[in-house]
Amino acid sequence: MRHLLCALAIALAACKVNAAGDSTDGRDLFASQCSACHGPTGRPTEMMVERFGVKDLTAPDVRRDMTPASVERQIRRGSANFKMPSFEGQLTDAQIRVLAEFVAGSTFVPPPP
Ligand code: HEC
Repeated sequence: MRHLLCALAIALAACKVNAAGDSTDGRDLFASQCSACHGPTGRPTEMMVERFGVKDLTAPDVRRDMTPASVERQIRRGSANFKMPSFEGQLTDAQIRVLAEFVAGSTFVPPPP
């Protein structure tokens, strides 16, 4: 599925999904696995939102319903519309868990300056 997405999104940042290696750092994993679509801070570019329907992970309405379990489910299954690929098998269980904790956690969105 990821290859199909990359074919569709060719030349776009969405293809820059790197190998996760053995990192178990949430921030590192987000940067290597998620930021190409969701943006380095969780806020996607307008183009990614318009073209691919990428969700802003910093948006208050998205964060209101977000839990580590909901993020874990999304990482494992991808989105029902296939716009977000499943990472099951690409990441270890431990990596998926730290990523889910990190994304749903209180440090993900920095407080306003
Ligand atoms: C290929 C682009 C792409 C990548 C890579 C990607 N996502 Fe997504 N993500 C999406 C899209 C598109 C949606 C919206 C899907 C929909 O319409 O349901 C989404 C939705 C989500 C949602 C649900 C938000 C909500 O509440 O509706 C979460 C959580 C999420 N992504 C987390 C992640 C994490 C964590 C990673 C890294 C492991 C990741 N995404 C990697 C494209 C991507």
